[in-house]
Amino acid sequence: MNPRPAPEPCIAVIFGASGDLARRRLLPALHNLQTDGLIPDSTAIVGTSRTGYTSEDWKADMRAAVEEHSRIPPTDESWATVAKDVHYVAGDVTDEGFFPELGELLEKIDAENGTNGNRLWYLATIPELFHLVAERLGKSGLSKTGGRQRIVVEKPFGKDLRSARALNQALATNFDEDEIYRIDHYLGKETVQNLLVFRFANAIFEPIWNRRYVDNVQITVAEDSGIGERGSFYERVGALRDVAQNHLLQLLSLIAMEPPIAWEPDDIRTEKVQVLRAVRRWSTRECNEVTVRGQYEGYREEANVDPESDTETFVAMTLFIDNWRWADVPFYLRTGKQLPAKVTEIAIQFKHVPHLLFARTAVEELEPNVLVIRIQPDEGVSLTFGVKVPGPEIEVRTVDMEFDYETDFGSGSPEAYERLLLECMLGDAMLFTRADEIEEAWEIVDPIREAWGEGKPAGYEPGTWGPKAAEELLLRAGHRWRDPA
Ligand code: BG6
Repeated sequence: MNPRPAPEPCIAVIFGASGDLARRRLLPALHNLQTDGLIPDSTAIVGTSRTGYTSEDWKADMRAAVEEHSRIPPTDESWATVAKDVHYVAGDVTDEGFFPELGELLEKIDAENGTNGNRLWYLATIPELFHLVAERLGKSGLSKTGGRQRIVVEKPFGKDLRSARALNQALATNFDEDEIYRIDHYLGKETVQNLLVFRFANAIFEPIWNRRYVDNVQITVAEDSGIGERGSFYERVGALRDVAQNHLLQLLSLIAMEPPIAWEPDDIRTEKVQVLRAVRRWSTRECNEVTVRGQYEGYREEANVDPESDTETFVAMTLFIDNWRWADVPFYLRTGKQLPAKVTEIAIQFKHVPHLLFARTAVEELEPNVLVIRIQPDEGVSLTFGVKVPGPEIEVRTVDMEFDYETDFGSGSPEAYERLLLECMLGDAMLFTRADEIEEAWEIVDPIREAWGEGKPAGYEPGTWGPKAAEELLLRAGHRWRDPA
């Protein structure tokens, strides 16, 4: 196998550098990429935000952040390699005068590091500023250096279809589509990338991956923590926009897509878009029947949360994909905070056997096969099937066949952000969301939001699987949620 070449050196400019994302994800990822020798030593990092740090202050803060959050603990040597090219410039992106000042610093670094005008602009500010920063980068000429331009846009990408379109438009005016990298960090997870390998590198799954054999599919993104310090952010988004519109729908499209014709970013993304296009659009009345929204007890007492808030911290929904492969197969999606466990998994529930052969076992008692893809934690795949219990009687018991990442490959997979930053520097957009994909996802989610209107979420006790209505949603269809805990 040919190893992939290292990317050309570039300057990663982080807008919103004093925020949580830079501390927890971006600096640890950049440190690890350099330590693993995956990006050139001359890669430079420029942080900017309104906070009046000096470069030395920011470096000290980032070293502490890397110690706290990095997969690979920094040594004096590894940190020195990164820190020699770390800079900080305080400034306000709403002030036009700031951009020429930033430009001067970047040109100086180009001359010293040989970064050749290559830029990775990372929008980690509050989402309301994404638009403006993209425009100012274009208008000030900073995005026209002759070098490679990449602009990375964090989620949430808009708050509905309209705002997402406006943001896509602002980006498209100032950057080419192949320069725009919309992040959904789920796509950087090894186990999510494995979904396509699992489906298309094995001949045995594809023939049964359809309505003839699959009874229902359950996708769960559960967290056992509350919203923590993120009250003011969460109040504006809620679970539907925070996780369902992106992570859940990304998992859905990877699990349900048709085989792409080639392992190329656009061939894959086109198939994913087709799934989202085929998702049945519910009427307002139907939306209220097929979705459940919940709020954990105690949410309203969290910091920076309105004491009368109706923001949902849980959502469950039934979706149908109206195409030949999946017609009438329910896809059940759920996500929430303060649930019994932090776990993300996809469970493919196969149909019951058509006919019972064994006199002593009623068909109803035989568990149908379930294929569970554990995205996190305990990453792996398991398949349940019935076997004969040893003895003179015919008795059937369900057992598990297991694959566990750690057992086979050891621990230490790269973090999602490491992979995504590397792909972006290499110019490979396969693990990023295309403009039409984002817009289709909003088309699914917007009517649900609108149907909920002024209604109230149902309460649920922390540590439970959401409101009772979530249970009933499946029971009405003769199904039951799998317990992933
Ligand atoms: C983020 C959401 O996108 O994903 C958070 O904003 C959520 O609310 C997080 O906690 C979950 O990510 P992970 O990788 O921990 O499953």
